[in-house]
Amino acid sequence: NDEGHDAKNLRVKLVLLGDSGVGKSCIVLRFVRGQFDSASKVTVGASFLSQTIALHDSTTVRFEIWDTAGQERYAALAPLYYRGAAVAVIVYDITRPESFCKAQYWVKYSKMIEAISFIELQKHGSPDILMALVGNKADLQEKREVPAQDALDYAEKNGMFFMETSAKTSDNINELFEVLMTFSS
Ligand code: GTP
Ligand code: MG
Repeated sequence: NDEGHDAKNLRVKLVLLGDSGVGKSCIVLRFVRGQFDSASKVTVGASFLSQTIALHDSTTVRFEIWDTAGQERYAALAPLYYRGAAVAVIVYDITRPESFCKAQYWVKYSKMIEAISFIELQKHGSPDILMALVGNKADLQEKREVPAQDALDYAEKNGMFFMETSAKTSDNINELFEVLMTFSS
């Protein structure tokens, strides 16, 4: 660049997957605008937002975030947004075990896509997708039904990064993206 430093401007395509109502849109809203919407509306199709973060060494990372719709009727659209993503964040709600099952479905799906892309693209090297498992609504401890240890064990077995977050209190939201940034830069 002009100043002679080796500045890097990285772009990271990130896709959020998970059951309807787990808080995907709220996580993005908290990260991008620092806000929380207690009356958040269901996402239709998908929505796109971006946020740039600066690293200490004059590197910036622009997250291009595809916030997908969790409702079953939109399930067929997910592959469109998944395509070419460097990071997949799979979200569940710590108070709803069904949403943890749905998260496991997305993990299997992601692994399948990864295997297919590996076969298709092996001439160009394997396309590593970084996967993170996120247990959201960590502020609702008294309603917890998914033990953190179960999710951590599952994540470790599947080579995923794991974190519990709260879009409501903003607990671990910036930390989540900072960790993902570190791994993908
Ligand atoms: P779809 O767009 O249908 O896939 O749902 P979504 O995963 O985007 O859920 P959304 O972000 O719209 O949040 C659903 C509901 O959960 C809303 O009423 C939010 O206010 C609430 N919510 C989201 N995150 C949190 C959280 O961390 N804690 C609590 N207590 N509520 C949350
Ligand atoms: Mg949404």
